[in-house]
Amino acid sequence: MEQVESLFDLSGQVAVVIGGTGNLCGNMGIALARAGAEVVIVGRNPENAIENLAAIDDFGGKSWFHKADVSNRQEIDDLLSAVLIRSGKVDVLVNGAGVGSGTSFLEITEDELTRLMDVNFKSVFRACQIFGQFFIDHHEPCSIINMGSMAGVLPVSGISAYSAAKAAVHNLTKNLAREWAEHDIRVNTLVPGFFPSTEASRQGDETRALEILRHTPMSRFGTANELTGATLMLASNKAGSFITGSEITVDGGFSSMTI
Ligand SMILES: NC(=O)c1ccc[n+]([C@@H]2O[C@H](COP(=O)([O-])OP(=O)(O)OC[C@H]3O[C@@H](n4cnc5c(N)ncnc54)[C@H](O)[C@@H]3O)[C@@H](O)[C@H]2O)c1
Repeated sequence: MEQVESLFDLSGQVAVVIGGTGNLCGNMGIALARAGAEVVIVGRNPENAIENLAAIDDFGGKSWFHKADVSNRQEIDDLLSAVLIRSGKVDVLVNGAGVGSGTSFLEITEDELTRLMDVNFKSVFRACQIFGQFFIDHHEPCSIINMGSMAGVLPVSGISAYSAAKAAVHNLTKNLAREWAEHDIRVNTLVPGFFPSTEASRQGDETRALEILRHTPMSRFGTANELTGATLMLASNKAGSFITGSEITVDGGFSSMTI
């Protein structure tokens, strides 16, 4: 039997974390580095990576920042090239760039719809195409973790375009899992419930927050650290060796709540 201690060991692996400048994927990047991976934090603003790079450095982990806007295909091509030059390979890709919107359905403009679909869905599509081709050519077991959302599974009021974009991510993930299993590429969706990143966002709309908590059997929001276990399981080719096309839900029971 595989040593249990090494199930989550990512030593020698390279993980590219798109959206690693943000709250949830920032934490996921730190967790991947703690498990031994070299982590490439990807985002638009280098200043937002400083804290995460320092946190990784503090425990002797290895990480670096690459600036990219994933709305731009060329910038994802350049990201892959930069990673191959500096780190030599990629084993794990996290697609976590995301933007929300509080605009009600009838008020969403073409521009906003384009932006929401572009960042939340098309960026994932692009990165899967570009990194997927590398993975296919590379012939090593690897893992793609796409950030989905509870809103992409169940209808959640007030965020229709975001929800539809995330539903597309869930569907794409299953398609790629089916197509790429023969190449040893595992593709899964990590599905967070509600993880407000700041006190302000937690208290932004008190009525809505209470509604969410009433609908969450565990009666609380998630914290970024609570994605660590699922992240490492999906990233690790040992712990997650037979997991592909799955939606791993981390939601305090939100999706199990009916009446
Ligand atoms: N926070 C939650 O409750 C929650 C719930 C379900 C799913 N998610 C998803 O998890 C992921 C992370 O969410 P978060 O709460 O940490 O958000 P966040 O805003 O803290 O992080 C998102 C990151 O994506 C980056 N980003 C946005 N557009 C980009 C672009 N065009 N190119 C490159 N980077 C870009 C942002 O700069 C930011 O660093 C997102 O995909 C989000 O949709 C979050």
